[in-house]
Amino acid sequence: MAKVLIVCATRTGETMDIGNLIAEGVRISGHEAQVVKFNEIKKESDLEGFDGVVLGSATYHGDMIQGMKTILFLAEKANLEGKAGGAFGAFGWSGEAPDRIYDTMKNIFKMNMVGNPLRLKSASIQGGIKMAQDYGREIVAKLG
Ligand SMILES: Cc1cc2nc3c(=O)[nH]c(=O)nc-3n(C[C@H](O)[C@H](O)[C@H](O)COP(=O)(O)O)c2cc1C
Repeated sequence: MAKVLIVCATRTGETMDIGNLIAEGVRISGHEAQVVKFNEIKKESDLEGFDGVVLGSATYHGDMIQGMKTILFLAEKANLEGKAGGAFGAFGWSGEAPDRIYDTMKNIFKMNMVGNPLRLKSASIQGGIKMAQDYGREIVAKLG
């Protein structure tokens, strides 16, 4: 059974809800998923030992939450090359954060990324539950 880490940078909990649904999709597909809030990641080794890593942040002022930037610098030192990856986040109107995270994971960490980042206004509207669960299934399809 493969293990997927899902890290959520959130202020009001929407991104955490999406992360938990992605985890459901991973578990439905028969694998293990661990969901953590961004402030639980304190050192690069906290990102190691997983077959897939999925990073999420809400967008505030056109940017990801500061703590996620710190995690991306830690992740640069963790060896994530070739591992399954995805990026997601809740947003209101512009939603830059998931795109920025996704591009870093793809271009700098050289991860095996799912097709696109997942941006949702909320997990609970417009089919968000299924979209987030499906994203978890997509991650599983990328596991080596
Ligand atoms: C002060 C403030 C600034 C925001 N800036 C943006 C923004 O630049 N672009 C955007 O798409 N959403 C923006 N939002 C909306 C949040 O991304 C949205 O409420 C999201 O659901 C919050 O997710 P969270 O609960 O995970 O923190 C902003 C919200 C607030 C309160």
